[in-house]
Amino acid sequence: MFQFSAPPPLSLYIHFPWCVHKCPYCDFNSHAIKDAVPESAYIEALFRDLEQELPAVWGRTVQTVFMGGGTPSVFSPQAIDRLLSGIRARLPLNPGAEITLEANPGTVEQEKFAGYREAGVNRLSIGIQSLNNSHLQVLERIHSAAEAVRAAQAARCAGFDNFNLDLMFGLPGQTPEQACDDLRAAIELQPAHLSWYQLTLEPNTRFHAHPPVLPDGDRLWDMQNQGHPLLAAHSYIQYEVSAFAQAGKRCRHNLNYWRFGDYIGIGAGAHGKITDGGQGIITRRWKQRLPQTYLETAGSKTCIQDQRNLTESEAVFEFALNQLRLKQGFELDGFESSCGLQRHWILPILKEAARDGLLVLDRSKVRHTDKGWHFLNNLLERFLPEEAQHAGSNPD
Ligand SMILES: C[S@@+](CC[C@H](N)C(=O)[O-])C[C@H]1O[C@@H](n2cnc3c(N)ncnc32)[C@H](O)[C@@H]1O
Ligand code: SF4
Repeated sequence: MFQFSAPPPLSLYIHFPWCVHKCPYCDFNSHAIKDAVPESAYIEALFRDLEQELPAVWGRTVQTVFMGGGTPSVFSPQAIDRLLSGIRARLPLNPGAEITLEANPGTVEQEKFAGYREAGVNRLSIGIQSLNNSHLQVLERIHSAAEAVRAAQAARCAGFDNFNLDLMFGLPGQTPEQACDDLRAAIELQPAHLSWYQLTLEPNTRFHAHPPVLPDGDRLWDMQNQGHPLLAAHSYIQYEVSAFAQAGKRCRHNLNYWRFGDYIGIGAGAHGKITDGGQGIITRRWKQRLPQTYLETAGSKTCIQDQRNLTESEAVFEFALNQLRLKQGFELDGFESSCGLQRHWILPILKEAARDGLLVLDRSKVRHTDKGWHFLNNLLERFLPEEAQHAGSNPD
């Protein structure tokens, strides 16, 4: 049984399931726009969805909002304004809340960014992926390197000094020099935050069905060994596996996920995790993925594709899976307050990992060793609930 003195901080995630073009590497719930985006109908559906969530979070204040996708920037500033006003009218939003919107450089110009800012957006996350035109073409991006640069400049001119750039490395045919050139060009744009993801071949993507030739392990290792010092030399501090930020500019929304905070998820395919302190329950639920089905069902029970309450050992695993992505490790007090469990639920696993040189347990603080950081997957597997470990080791 979980026991909470107070529920963890609350965030709001809003999913936008449309993009101009479906990129061949992407397994997000995103669909190429056929005709026009049903802006107004979707915003109404989001309100119905949110209203259905309200009883579970009554009296709690939202600390961060993240509009992700898909490509939220295919929506007009007027629609985003209506959405944020409607959210404020329905639940308490911290006046200092971080409000992020994801944007694709092929869908924005300065005026649109200025409109988002007026609507209340105070952080942008721009997907540039690379600043090399031949790599952008292989990735089937809808913008050139010059357009990506212009988008970052337009964001700044519109008043956003807090913006993130998404970059990927390990691209088809990419050399370590090219990966570092991308980083250098991105750093020149002076984003407050950089997300640097290794390209992965995800099931159900075109790249998975027809795999391009990707750099081998040695090259990937070189990219990271050269890229990380380059970022550090420009004051981008790595605080998570793929996240680098200037001082004071870490993404508060993502930090709340990684600290096992709560979040309401609205929109097609959105996931949420909510703690009911009174009942001692942590519930995960997710919504209908297909935009049309979502539009038709939002606000009704049918819209909730599924939901389940976590068991204690699942909560321990999910806590570790998230917290151990953070470089700074965690406090055992933080485990007790956000998981609602006493430390004996996690201590035996931590002690064994410490014996194997993957973690250091210093009184109540837990942090990785270099070995634990480099073999993060091995470390995380140790937290898998037993049933899942057996399922993984026995294909029958
Ligand atoms: C929802 S998208 C961001 C915004 C917008 N849709 C765009 O692409 O411009 C989130 C980010 O995840 C990253 N991403 C998507 N698929 C990936 C993959 N297969 N491997 C690594 N990173 C991936 C990309 O950097 C992408 O910008
Ligand atoms: S990477 Fe971004 S633009 Fe491309 S399909 Fe995925 S969500 Fe859409």
